[in-house]
Amino acid sequence: MANKLHLITYGCQMNEYDSERVAGLLRERDYELTTDEREADVILLNTCAIREKAEDKVFSKLGELKRLKAARPDLVIGVMGCMAQLQQENVLRRAPSVDLVFGSPAIARVGELVERARRERRPVLDTAEAPLVKITAKAAGAERLKAFVTVMEGCEKHCTFCVVPRTRGRERSHTPEAIVAEIEGLVAEGCREVTLLGQTVNAYGRDLTPPTDLAELFHRVNDVEGLARIRFTTSNPYNLTPTLIRAMREVPKVCEWFHLPLQSGSDRILERMNRGYTRARYLELVEALREAEPAMAFSTDIIVGFPGETDEDFEATVEMIERVGYDNVFVFRYSRRPGTPAAAMPDQIPDAVKAARNGRLLEVVQRVTAARGGLLAGRTMEVLVDGTSRKSPGELAGRTRCNRVVNFDGQGQVAVGDVIHVLVTDVLPHSLRGALATPEEAVCWSR
Ligand code: 5AD
Repeated sequence: MANKLHLITYGCQMNEYDSERVAGLLRERDYELTTDEREADVILLNTCAIREKAEDKVFSKLGELKRLKAARPDLVIGVMGCMAQLQQENVLRRAPSVDLVFGSPAIARVGELVERARRERRPVLDTAEAPLVKITAKAAGAERLKAFVTVMEGCEKHCTFCVVPRTRGRERSHTPEAIVAEIEGLVAEGCREVTLLGQTVNAYGRDLTPPTDLAELFHRVNDVEGLARIRFTTSNPYNLTPTLIRAMREVPKVCEWFHLPLQSGSDRILERMNRGYTRARYLELVEALREAEPAMAFSTDIIVGFPGETDEDFEATVEMIERVGYDNVFVFRYSRRPGTPAAAMPDQIPDAVKAARNGRLLEVVQRVTAARGGLLAGRTMEVLVDGTSRKSPGELAGRTRCNRVVNFDGQGQVAVGDVIHVLVTDVLPHSLRGALATPEEAVCWSR
């Protein structure tokens, strides 16, 4: 009988990607996935360490699992990913029911590690650095229309708030050949859209011999027949080059959607964060990208309550959000992370102030993103059909190139996976409604 694996994933898209690899590698060793933790032989938590709350969630889950383990001493509980890498033996100290702790460099050896943890009656810890390997193993039934593809890992930027350089290590890129081969495999199974992942994806390729870049990778991925769309995340404004901006215009499958974390709109705070750009420079980039692609939609990440942030600094952030006109904004309250320079800064901001700024920013964001959505009314947009509408199952749903959800009546006329055109008739807070249109009706603005 097959062994049962229960996999819980926290955090970012790269963790989702990694979890799928782990499920695939363990499948090769006769483990099948179960959604029921009570019947699992092995439970793995793929963790996040970006904010303290992410870690709290994991420790509270481990507290729950302790009871399961008490009832079934054979159960193996593993903690993997960024929190494992950051906390190492602290995980075992705080959660003694854990049998296995390993960071992302050890994922390729997950099979061995799990076997060791099951065999040995003492905890296994593996948080050593290791070369990056491309793993393409997948869980059974993991074929999908849209897939993540890790193209590089790590970050060397050292923003003062961030643990990522400690959890994901130095910048290491996969070769274009390995990436293209993986995408060809995905497309052969029906995938139509890929999101290229990296913590600083626009730094892709500079560590390879010969060096290459993200623009060049776009061209290579664009040539994969059958693929319809390319997205990528996350970029850093610090090393966003004119070559990449040009490629966004020239490479047809690259979508007009750019996730460009601003973090703060205040130059003083950006400097203390060690972000490597000013608000003027950021605005220049936005302008250059909109000049290259007038339909470009921007999303961003903002941290409120970074040490020393004054009301004035915060107002500068509000003003930037209005000025850029984002389509989506993720707001985070600053969280002190162990070993980061900002954690040791003296002027930490009280929680109540963070909460107030967070609330105020969400109001601004709602207004700004709604205004951006309003611009789409009456336009004909290219849509990748990805399923049925969540609210009215009689309707189909898809996404525009600028990443908005569109619901429309098209059952029997088009199928999931088709790239079609939809005339936007209504703009709702979280989605668009529309009607099928012909490509000829599509104006160039929306492609
Ligand atoms: N506190 C709060 N938010 C953080 N982020 C990164 N580190 C921290 C921290 N210490 C946010 C940034 C980043 C996103 C992924 O998480 O906005 O872009």
